[in-house]
Amino acid sequence: MLNIIDGKRISQEILMEVKTKVEELKSEGKVPCLSVILVGNNPASKIYVNNKKKACEKVGMKSEEYLLDENVSQEELISLIEELNNREDVNGILVQLPLPKHLNEKVVLEAISYKKDVDCFNPYNVGKLMQGTGTLLPCTPAGIIELLDREKIEIEGKNCVVLGRSNIVGKPISIMMLNRNATVTICHSRTKNLEDICKKADILIVAVGKEKFVKDFMVKEGSTVIDVGINRNSEGKVCGDVDYENVSKKVSYITPVPGGVGPMTISMLIKNTLIASTQQKIYIY
Ligand code: GUN
Repeated sequence: MLNIIDGKRISQEILMEVKTKVEELKSEGKVPCLSVILVGNNPASKIYVNNKKKACEKVGMKSEEYLLDENVSQEELISLIEELNNREDVNGILVQLPLPKHLNEKVVLEAISYKKDVDCFNPYNVGKLMQGTGTLLPCTPAGIIELLDREKIEIEGKNCVVLGRSNIVGKPISIMMLNRNATVTICHSRTKNLEDICKKADILIVAVGKEKFVKDFMVKEGSTVIDVGINRNSEGKVCGDVDYENVSKKVSYITPVPGGVGPMTISMLIKNTLIASTQQKIYIY
């Protein structure tokens, strides 16, 4: 039987859980706060930033937006990050990517204090993740684990195949599945016999950014397929990396696009902001 994993519903559940905790904190006069920095006028980034703000409002958190000019210097941007690092009333800091070409993304992201790094892009937090002791975990991979857990899909001992090795999704989700005792295979553009490897997957996680990359003959019957892709097809409709129509006839669990992994990312960001605020034990009164 096919189960379509409803990321929209689960992400709302998580937001409601966070809201309850925020209300508890508020009753003690403490309000967690997320600061978001957006450089330039990328329309997609503006929408993402707005969605993050709305999610903060939904759970009763404070949010701040810093809209910086496209031509802002690296020094100015880093000086703002440092100011936010030092502010006791700011619990989470997020610099929306991509940044304009003249800014060094690596240097900028490393400037964010690891305590406020709600994206988990700082090498300290990536190192903690590697050791299995991370508390701030990267949002999309953490969202995938939540989906699996809440659908009661067992991870331990399962063959997990990850397609894609990006720093944002492929690498961290591989480590997180390993930390949960899955047997993990990471595949990428140079992998040979991809079809054979995918067919052995109990859990197939796909983050390659190519429409209909995973076809029905590549998946195991009764398996779980998690589609992280967000693409636009020739008709302009949002679609994932998996040939959903055909693959869904063969597997037991699948995430749709839209409405699968996508909505989880923001909910996990909000959850990270709550976690960061409780770890810092510093709030605005
Ligand atoms: N741009 C696209 N996805 C992300 C994300 O997860 N975090 C940040 N900071 N920027 C992004």
